[in-house]
Amino acid sequence: MKIRLFLLQFVLFLLCSSSLSFAKIPPRFPSSSFVQPENLYFSLAYKGNKLYETNYFTQILDHFNYNPDSYQTFQQRYLFNDKHWGGAKNNAPIFVYTGNEGDIEWFTQNTGFMFEIAPHFKALLVFIEHRFYGKSIPYGGDKEIAYSNTSTLGYLSSTQALADYATLIIDLKKNLTATDSPVVVFGGSYGGMLAAWFRLKYPHVTIGALASSAPILNFENITSPYSFNNIITQDFRGESENCYKVIKGSWKKIEDMAKTTGGLKKLRKSFRLCKNYISSGSLVNWLSTAFTYTAMTDYPTASNFLNPLPASPVKEVQVFITETSTFYLYIISGSQFLGEYNII
Ligand SMILES: *[C@@H]1O[C@H](CO)[C@@H](O)[C@H](O)[C@H]1NC(C)=O
Ligand SMILES: *[C@@H]1O[C@H](CO)[C@@H](O)[C@H](O)[C@H]1NC(C)=O
Ligand SMILES: *[C@@H]1O[C@H](CO)[C@@H](O)[C@H](O)[C@H]1NC(C)=O
Repeated sequence: MKIRLFLLQFVLFLLCSSSLSFAKIPPRFPSSSFVQPENLYFSLAYKGNKLYETNYFTQILDHFNYNPDSYQTFQQRYLFNDKHWGGAKNNAPIFVYTGNEGDIEWFTQNTGFMFEIAPHFKALLVFIEHRFYGKSIPYGGDKEIAYSNTSTLGYLSSTQALADYATLIIDLKKNLTATDSPVVVFGGSYGGMLAAWFRLKYPHVTIGALASSAPILNFENITSPYSFNNIITQDFRGESENCYKVIKGSWKKIEDMAKTTGGLKKLRKSFRLCKNYISSGSLVNWLSTAFTYTAMTDYPTASNFLNPLPASPVKEVQVFITETSTFYLYIISGSQFLGEYNII
């Protein structure tokens, strides 16, 4: 009850504030050690069936020169589902997901779109894991070595990853005697950038690319550094002006309260943070990450991509902001796992 009262006061004075701050954390995916793909959401259409099978391909470490080191190889994982494939004889298409920076099982299980359209196109589905992630670790699968220094990490680049995908796709088509089957690549986020770049750089391997939520031009001097946060802001502001004002005002209020005697302790208690909570900055980061991920996964149906969320979670936040006393409790429960990531 005390906490609720405090939250009410806290949110009330947030309502009167008008300072500006930006979320500073770049969006990222949970590490594969945290995400356990086997526990994740499975597309209903495939429930009871095996979603995919797993294969490994002996991949070249360095596609771009002939130094002795470059002859090293590693095992690259790919997943596939041929349930609906119309076969090589019919030149039925191959849909390839160009894996992002994470465990490929996780992306596969969250890319229902490809599974939904596969029957219509009689497509073979292939999901290729990005080098240095999941189980596709060079240097004998030893992550310690692969990530140890710049000479090993030098092989972790989007350019090499695209060449991996081209090499694997060409080899797979040969094995399936499906050289005439058209390939379409798919990807989301960084995977979407890879899909688009793949179409540009390997037009002889793919006839098309679908890049979803892909910040293809989000680079210095091309796109404003504020564009990402502006879109997040618009998502909340689109729901309600009040929602936008409360969130915008909260950053300064948190900083101000942290400076008062016992302020940090109050914040820690009201946000139910653990004892290693050390500064207003980390609280602001934690909250802004929650808002960011909520906007990033603002799907019209309930989902469990980065975190379990109801349908249209941005709207939900807006509703809870209106019911001020429960708003921050919602944010807290909605960002439990993010907390583990961002509070040092
Ligand atoms: C980088 O790490 C690899 C593997 O651990 C090692 O063989 C190599 O000597 C290291 N190179 C440098 C420059 O430290
Ligand atoms: C194609 O077949 C060869 C020989 O069995 C195998 O070594 C290779 O991994 C296969 N390629 C793919 C992409 O699975
Ligand atoms: C962006 O433009 C500035 C000013 O012209 C320049 O100093 C900087 O090097 C550019 N950055 C990149 C990544 O090209």
